[in-house]
Amino acid sequence: MLKLSGISIRLAGITVLRRVTSESRAGQLTAVVGRNGAGKTSLLRTIMGLIALDEGRIELNGQDLSEVPAHGRTRIGIGYAPEDRVMFPTFTVEENLRLPCELLGVKRAEVDRSLERAVEVVPQLKDLLPRSGSALSGGQGKMAALGRALMVGRSLVLLDEPFQGLAPVLAHQYAESLRKLRTLAPEVCVLVTESNGSLLRDLPDQTVFLERGECRVATAAECAPTH
Ligand SMILES: Nc1ncnc2c1ncn2[C@@H]1O[C@H](COP(=O)(O)OP(=O)(O)OP(=O)(O)O)[C@@H](O)[C@H]1O
Ligand SMILES: [Mg+2]
Repeated sequence: MLKLSGISIRLAGITVLRRVTSESRAGQLTAVVGRNGAGKTSLLRTIMGLIALDEGRIELNGQDLSEVPAHGRTRIGIGYAPEDRVMFPTFTVEENLRLPCELLGVKRAEVDRSLERAVEVVPQLKDLLPRSGSALSGGQGKMAALGRALMVGRSLVLLDEPFQGLAPVLAHQYAESLRKLRTLAPEVCVLVTESNGSLLRDLPDQTVFLERGECRVATAAECAPTH
């Protein structure tokens, strides 16, 4: 479980998140919905340890993350697909996916298993693996970035606005992958941000709205699918 308890952050002296509190359970997908500038990316970067907490506490499966430096958060099983989803252009997609695990010193057999699982969850990866990291369309890049986040995200997967700009067919495939992940890896907690919550349709188990840096859990009526 990911537990945020009253977390606040400041950037350039301005409070960007104010006492954000929420709980996301394993096997569940939590949507974080907020307008441009609401603080969605900052929230994910804070969970990754890239922005320091001003106050509050973040716990993952009971572990206080203040004890884990930013570079150690991948090691405890947090996978992150940022908005800009950068792939190393001189590496193949497969190399891009293996790299974070290799940097952590994970054994080859275990990396192979993680890759198999990523392909099971995101079948479109199969065709993309031999391709160069520089030869992907925007949508393909998002699929590859999801695969890379899954490679290390054994406990928590953070996805920043993955549905923005995805054509309907790819958005459908992406949502299918997230549903499959819930079944195949019920120990993983997933956080997905979106500025347009309706793009997520009925995917979230829980929706949290970020408004002017504060959060509130959506009511059942607000979560009703709009399609
Ligand atoms: N490095 C920074 N220094 C100062 N202010 C920042 C920095 N990064 C973000 N901000 C500010 O923090 C606020 C939240 O930004 P953030 O990028 O988290 O929003 P967002 O919800 O992800 O927006 P978007 O939907 O446009 O991606 C904004 O007001 C932004 O201007
Ligand atoms: Mg953002």
